[in-house]
Amino acid sequence: MTNIAIISGSHREQGNSHRVGHYIAHLLQQSNHNADNIDITELPLWDEGLWGKEQLAAKWQMWEGISERLQAAEAFVIITPEYCGMASPMITNFLLIANSQEVGHKPGLIVGVSASRGGAYPIAQLRSFSVKNNHLCWIPDHVIIRDVDTFLEEVNGGKSSYTAEMLNYALKMLGDYAIALRHVRESGNVDYKTFPYGM
Ligand SMILES: Cc1cc2nc3c(=O)[nH]c(=O)nc-3n(C[C@H](O)[C@H](O)[C@H](O)COP(=O)(O)O)c2cc1C
Repeated sequence: MTNIAIISGSHREQGNSHRVGHYIAHLLQQSNHNADNIDITELPLWDEGLWGKEQLAAKWQMWEGISERLQAAEAFVIITPEYCGMASPMITNFLLIANSQEVGHKPGLIVGVSASRGGAYPIAQLRSFSVKNNHLCWIPDHVIIRDVDTFLEEVNGGKSSYTAEMLNYALKMLGDYAIALRHVRESGNVDYKTFPYGM
């Protein structure tokens, strides 16, 4: 059994990305993984309080619980809605805050969500710019859930689809990468002291 954290970046309380997150948790549990849906909707925008600046530090107490859960996870599903052709600010803020001790050298599956035919831009954005400092490892596969309302209606009604099959497969691969990357973290070669900010 692998502990897999799910992070959804919708800014809307009833956002489809959150609904996709619940569906993914259900799929992971069916495959005997432990799914931990971490709510980041109250996460403040990064500021120096996170690095200990006293006047700003109090609000970051809320990160401690999230940090512990990230450290306990061996893989991540990061779900981002496409907002104006970008990953949501909530997701990029999360990736700015999460550090190597929490997510470094652990595999991540990106899931893009679009109400219409979009969803690709946030994936390109996150693959290119998001892991230099935190050392999270995106796996080669990603999933774009287009026409998300129809998708959710279908899967919640017990109907399969090509997208649902892709999601199942990508989650299976994520589980395998979670096991494989344990060796990297335990190799003794990881050196965050000399190279804290990536390359
Ligand atoms: C501010 C904003 C910008 C959006 N821009 C896009 C977009 O560029 N491309 C797209 O396919 N959908 C866009 N959408 C619609 C989302 O795809 C839709 O809301 C979908 O359900 C995922 O977002 P959600 O998780 O917040 O529901 C946008 C929605 C919002 C609220």
